[in-house]
Amino acid sequence: MNSRLLEPVRLGALELPNRVVMAPLTRCRADNPEFAPTESTARYYAQRASAGLIVSEATIVSAQGRGYPYTPGIWSDAQVTGWRRVTDAVHAAGGRIVCQLWHCGRLSLTEFHDGELPVAPSAVNAEWKMFSAQGLKTTPTPHALSRDEIAAIVADFGRAARNAVLAGFDGVEIHSSNGYLIHQFFSPLANRRDDEYGGSHANRARFFFEVLDAVAAEWSPSRIGFRLNPMMNRFHGMRVDEDTLPMFEHVVRRTNAYELAYLHLTEPYLPNQLDGAVGAIDDVARHFRDIATMAVMTNGGFDQTRAEAALAAGTCDAVAFGRPYISNPDLVERFRAGAPLNEWDADTFYQGGDRGYIDYPTLGG
Ligand SMILES: Cc1cc2nc3c(=O)[nH]c(=O)nc-3n(C[C@H](O)[C@H](O)[C@H](O)COP(=O)(O)O)c2cc1C
Repeated sequence: MNSRLLEPVRLGALELPNRVVMAPLTRCRADNPEFAPTESTARYYAQRASAGLIVSEATIVSAQGRGYPYTPGIWSDAQVTGWRRVTDAVHAAGGRIVCQLWHCGRLSLTEFHDGELPVAPSAVNAEWKMFSAQGLKTTPTPHALSRDEIAAIVADFGRAARNAVLAGFDGVEIHSSNGYLIHQFFSPLANRRDDEYGGSHANRARFFFEVLDAVAAEWSPSRIGFRLNPMMNRFHGMRVDEDTLPMFEHVVRRTNAYELAYLHLTEPYLPNQLDGAVGAIDDVARHFRDIATMAVMTNGGFDQTRAEAALAAGTCDAVAFGRPYISNPDLVERFRAGAPLNEWDADTFYQGGDRGYIDYPTLGG
């Protein structure tokens, strides 16, 4: 079969043998006091090394950025050592992996911060239920960041980017989506600031560009990607309204000047996600393709047929697969063979040790 999905592509300096990307997937398997990736993590990613590119699970840039149990970090030496084991295993298996840099902001609980409040642009509660050791708990009203505290977080992203070099990654992806800290700054609901970080599009984008500049001090822009989920609605405390598209258009237009590796988008894929929201669009990649000068990757509910159609229509250069990659380590080989896919087990997405993590079968067992 003539497949664009299986053709090579270049995203900035990243040379991919195919256009099948493993989407970032939090798996909560760093169950050690250091929050460092383990041997199983190295095995999990190496099993998936035939992907054109692996985007690592979201990786927290500082202890303050935590919002979930057992998510790995990249601020300490032990974490860098753990990630080095992962990148070595992926490279030995012929793959490429970038590190997704993450700060949860207000999507967090006091128990992850020794009883202190999580932080956010403003003291506005996301009213969202988060996983904790005692089951689901509603987020508290966060602490509004001071200017000095914002500068410290920008520096944390810079340190994380530097550590990602030391850990042997091929690049980094800034997690500026899904309702986490950077997205909170973009959103007029979460960001009610009246200083230079709030109000206008340029002001609400300021934190993102400070983070991008800090990351670009450590990496060539041609190895930096960033993720946007503009149509995230009624999820993680985010809403779509008339201001949403113009805000994200502003962000993408300004990033064009950096010559970054890629823009990673998410399409609306959850049932009733847009819910008739004013200002919503349902083909995100098509919209931003005309605005972005960098490569575009899209994601969200794709199967092989829809991915081929998006590539044939020219709306993107690569497609990221999330849940299909959890249950199909050899997704590329299955696409090539036209083979059926393993079903995923949602009960082991965020727990279960090695079960539902490194035990999904490949073709032929
Ligand atoms: C278990 C799980 C963990 C996820 N973790 C992350 C993450 O760490 N970072 C991120 O940007 N998106 C994360 N997502 C979103 C996925 O990257 C992807 O956008 C979503 O699963 C939709 O794509 P799919 O239909 O191919 O699964 C996660 C999704 C799932 C199901």
